Amino acid sequence: MLKLSICFGSACHLQGAYSVLNAFKALIDKYEIQSEIDLEGNFCQGQCTEGVIIKINDEIIKNVSKEKVFEIFKDKVLGGGQY
Ligand code: FES
Repeated sequence: MLKLSICFGSACHLQGAYSVLNAFKALIDKYEIQSEIDLEGNFCQGQCTEGVIIKINDEIIKNVSKEKVFEIFKDKVLGGGQY
């Protein structure tokens, strides 16, 4: 199970955390991997100027926008190409 957390602190919210969430959700649905991903919201991660902040397992990824979601999804979620 891969843990994907998205920061919903006020700064990340203003920087588009919801559109990042929706973009991830759409991909998770498209690839039908709902049972493999634990998707959750986080409070402020203390790195507001570099938002949107997401975490995949323990790896922090900064400056995420909805345009970058597919790239991140491909690399970090689909990774080894098992899907
Ligand atoms: S609001 Fe996301 S890091 Fe502070």
